[in-house]
Amino acid sequence: MCGIVGYVGFRSAADFLMEGLHRLEYRGYDSAGIAVQQGDRIVVRRQVGQVQELSDLLTRKPVSGSVGIGHTRWATHGETTETNCHPHVGGDGHVVVVHNGVIENHDTLRDWLQQLGYVFHSQTDTEVVAHLIAHHLDEQQRLNGDSDLPAVCLNAVRAALQQIHGTYGLGILFRDCPDMILAARCGSPLVIGVGDDEYFLASDSGPLVGYTKEVVYLSDNELAVLQKDRLQIEHRTTGNVAPAIQTLEQVASDIERGDFEHYMLKEIYEQPHTIENALRGRLDEDEATAVIGGLNLTAQQLRQIDRVVLTACGTSWHAGLVGEYLLEEFARLPTEVEYASELRYRNPPISDRTLVFAITQSGETADTLAAMRECRRKGHPTLAICNVVGSTIAREADGGIYLHAGPEIGVASTKAFTSQVTVLTLLALYLGRMRHLSHPAGKRIIRQLQEMPETIEKTLRCHEQVQEIADRYWQFDNYLYLGRLYNFPVALEGALKLKEISYIHAEGYPAAEMKHGPIALVDEKTPSVFVIPRGGIHPKVVSNMEEVKARRGPVIAIACQDDAEVARIADDVICVPDVEEYLQPLVCAIPLQLLAYHVALLRGCNVDRPRNLAKSVTVE
Ligand code: F6R
Repeated sequence: MCGIVGYVGFRSAADFLMEGLHRLEYRGYDSAGIAVQQGDRIVVRRQVGQVQELSDLLTRKPVSGSVGIGHTRWATHGETTETNCHPHVGGDGHVVVVHNGVIENHDTLRDWLQQLGYVFHSQTDTEVVAHLIAHHLDEQQRLNGDSDLPAVCLNAVRAALQQIHGTYGLGILFRDCPDMILAARCGSPLVIGVGDDEYFLASDSGPLVGYTKEVVYLSDNELAVLQKDRLQIEHRTTGNVAPAIQTLEQVASDIERGDFEHYMLKEIYEQPHTIENALRGRLDEDEATAVIGGLNLTAQQLRQIDRVVLTACGTSWHAGLVGEYLLEEFARLPTEVEYASELRYRNPPISDRTLVFAITQSGETADTLAAMRECRRKGHPTLAICNVVGSTIAREADGGIYLHAGPEIGVASTKAFTSQVTVLTLLALYLGRMRHLSHPAGKRIIRQLQEMPETIEKTLRCHEQVQEIADRYWQFDNYLYLGRLYNFPVALEGALKLKEISYIHAEGYPAAEMKHGPIALVDEKTPSVFVIPRGGIHPKVVSNMEEVKARRGPVIAIACQDDAEVARIADDVICVPDVEEYLQPLVCAIPLQLLAYHVALLRGCNVDRPRNLAKSVTVE
């Protein structure tokens, strides 16, 4: 949540900052702002609304200079007014700050600073940081004079950070030290791009693509000094740290929309390819198992595991539910799926033989990170199923499996879900083959997985049909999503997609559970979306569908081609390929993503940037 950028070098800072903010906009889009060192002052431009509105402001009121910071906001403290926009100014304008995170003791600090005479203009916790640094800067200058200004500024930030409790990724400018940015991290990600005579700063690597391939990920409690020809990093307790430069693999086309109208649609269409990437090099046909290299546990250790805990939030939690079914079916391993936001504060018994996996697209979700840290603190090996390379969770986990899905920019998760389910299928196959799963059964799973990219390609042919259905249903205000077994998590995910991008109330339920309450909602104005491909309990779900029809509820069915029984009952059918039950979540998720997409478009919603949401939820 919130995106930060910074630049120090020889280019126009505003140009880099604005391009970077456009690329980070998925992290928050309530308001945006930049601050640039221009002559002997720092010029700040801020604008409520999307980054484009700030671009328009800069066209009218340009800024020039080659050192600057920028921010795109997802509001935590204070409404989306101009005064609450970042950057925030401290003291009499000699410090300017952008911040991602939450300062928990901001009230106490604010009171104290007000008593010292600092005047606050915003309701944000960030302005507290700006004044606090300004205060320490005055103190340092009083004690040490101005002889070594960069060192004085650094000391001021060190002192301010000692007083702050909470999470932060900070970019800081000093009016009297115009060739320098300070960056500090605790809990909110920051990455530094290394160029020739220039350094870049960003909340994730997106803004750096095309500018440099060399990056340094800051760790918690690190403070960096960026000047055009110098990068110095220090850790709060251990002192100076040699920057660990890593290579960025992304290319510009990964983060461009191409010919698609929205990132979400592009990412839906990428799924044949992203599933292929998740499978690449991970299928061992001879041994009829998966090849999973990064778990950092021996086969013997893995064989001793007798329970799995999967922890995640949102869509990743839904993928975890599919994972539970897969792990229990293939590996006979009792599996629990925990909301990370609950697990972090609960104290469930987790034995030595339990394997914990954090599932996360971004690798930055605050609750998932906290749950993972809590499990690690108790000594459990904690692994990650993660998309973003170099993210905090990927770096802190004891091992894990990357999705290799490429950047997911649309706020509603699509391709990450199917990649997570694919990776969980591989994991279940791998752990299954160490236990009860036979060679022929493993072979069969492998064959089915190998066909998956093509099967998803075929599934996408339902697009036109989905569009027509969306045309008929977009005005309804309440929906039920119903499925059973592997398709229950799919129903939850379908409902989440619809509500988050079209603001329609939708509930996902196990189809049979409906009779215990939600059926009271059924009437002619409440469509039910049944996820009902062929399978063992298909007749039971057909009965559930009949129950809805008997109460005049409109029914949309996601079903296999030529399913005459479903076609007879449902008002509308979206056809998907017939696959093994354990692979149905992969194919059935696709029409639900498309349905949410088209309904949202027809309702005039901003599909890629739904209100109140941000891609990477880095606050609790
Ligand atoms: C929904 C969505 C969210 C995320 C959730 C976890 O479309 O994207 O529910 O799934 O915020 O995010 P990650 O997977 O990045 O931990």
